[in-house]
Amino acid sequence: MPTERTLSIIKPDGVARDCIGAICGRFEQAGLRIVAARMVRLSQAEAGEFYAVHKERPFYAGLLRYMVSGPVMAMVLEGEGAIARNREIMGATNPADAAPGTIRADFAESVERNTVHGSDSAQTAAAEIAFFFDDMQICPRDS
Ligand code: CMP
Repeated sequence: MPTERTLSIIKPDGVARDCIGAICGRFEQAGLRIVAARMVRLSQAEAGEFYAVHKERPFYAGLLRYMVSGPVMAMVLEGEGAIARNREIMGATNPADAAPGTIRADFAESVERNTVHGSDSAQTAAAEIAFFFDDMQICPRDS
């Protein structure tokens, strides 16, 4: 399986409940290495741009209100098949449907406050990584 990079976000509920370390531990235990990390409080415009694909959805306005409600931790994860692996570790979007042992099953409060975001394809990963990070802010991990 090829080495890939994917964007992960620990959302405001995960940061507010001090779950950053526990969630990063899940990534590291699964062989996903953190090659960039940045805490940021998104503006309304930034959150709107990041989630533009959902702008016609009924939950869009609430999603934006939530995503600007506190800081988020944006990270680039690197590893074999990182995009799919991260989505396995996160679990289903709705924590009620998430498999036991996944991040969303263990940490998330609701389908909106679902603790983590992960890119869903190689194309999305490239765009989402570029949204948060310049190339110079990403550190390849040789060891
Ligand atoms: P995420 O993986 O970041 O992608 C889009 C987000 O929209 C999703 O996680 C949830 O936080 C949110 N979302 C998706 N479906 C719903 C829904 N039915 N109601 C509220 N929020 C949702």
